[in-house]
Amino acid sequence: MKAVRIHQYGSPEVLVYEDVVRPRPGSGNVLVEVHAAGVNPIDWKVREGHAKGWLNHALPLILGWDVSGVIVELGNTANGFKKGDEVYGKLDVMHDGAYAEYTTTATENITLKPKTVDHVHAAAVPIAALTAWQSLFDLANLSTGQTILIHAAAGGVGHFAVQFAKWKGARVIGTASARNTKFVKKLGAEEVIDYTVRKFEDEVRGVDCVLDTQGGEVLSRSLRVLKKGGIVVSTLEEPRAEDLTRYGVRATHVIAKSDSRQLKEIAALIDTGHVKPAVEIVLPLAEARKAHELSQSGHTHGKIVLKVKP
Ligand SMILES: NC(=O)c1ccc[n+]([C@@H]2O[C@H](COP(=O)([O-])OP(=O)(O)OC[C@H]3O[C@@H](n4cnc5c(N)ncnc54)[C@H](OP(=O)(O)O)[C@@H]3O)[C@@H](O)[C@H]2O)c1
Repeated sequence: MKAVRIHQYGSPEVLVYEDVVRPRPGSGNVLVEVHAAGVNPIDWKVREGHAKGWLNHALPLILGWDVSGVIVELGNTANGFKKGDEVYGKLDVMHDGAYAEYTTTATENITLKPKTVDHVHAAAVPIAALTAWQSLFDLANLSTGQTILIHAAAGGVGHFAVQFAKWKGARVIGTASARNTKFVKKLGAEEVIDYTVRKFEDEVRGVDCVLDTQGGEVLSRSLRVLKKGGIVVSTLEEPRAEDLTRYGVRATHVIAKSDSRQLKEIAALIDTGHVKPAVEIVLPLAEARKAHELSQSGHTHGKIVLKVKP
């Protein structure tokens, strides 16, 4: 089969489009014919070797852990799945990913894909949407009537977070550059702050929750906009403990986990029209290098997806 692998860490040039042996599903696993693979910042972070400290990958490695496709072979235990099922999910980042014509996965990582969107849009969902879901609902316990500030509200994680918060009945303030203001408002934000010209901490006060996707000074400035006892959930890091004490706020760092039950709920929200995955760019598998360059530019609007099955 065709796949995109890395044999060494480095720039996008280390991504090699090549022939590799098609994997076989082990016990409790299924073989999925990949129709589309979502691209996430973790893909290029792994490619560059940034994740070496906590993910001990053996190389060569197939990147890309968001998948949507069709089950074509079952291992010993099918766990209720059958051949022909259209599924989507977040693959285990310790193993080969979905930049390939076929991938194997444990059945716990997948569920039936949303029926109302194609594979390209389904592949845009898992990692970004699970990160947003787990941040808002598992970690921040966001509830109806609360206010949340969502950084990078037009990005992969952010655009799902805005829609989930809105669905929950929370009031949403987002940060984005001017070109994305309309998009973020349409997703459900009441206010959008153009972070390139305005300081969010000058305009926002007393929010219940902040979703931080930037880290560094954006994270530390975010502590000032929380009400006492409020919480910041960061996709990148935790602030200094002394700053939390100083502002009387809480913080935590999300590490997105596969969760097929949550993906089922998210699929239902997509099928009922409450949530819409936004895909900015679709590229063929052979153009994974271009996809990485775009993702790495840090200004994706919604998601980038590799269409694997033409
Ligand atoms: N811990 C985890 O499990 C986990 C899971 C998922 C993601 N992450 C991390 O979370 C981060 C975000 O992921 P993502 O998939 O959402 O990334 P992404 O889609 O690449 O984010 C792109 C967005 O960031 C916005 N942006 C850039 N700089 C900004 C700033 N200073 N303030 C506000 N918005 C800004 C851009 O908006 P404009 O174009 O308008 O500038 C663009 O819409 C990445 O570092 C990723 O690795 C971690």
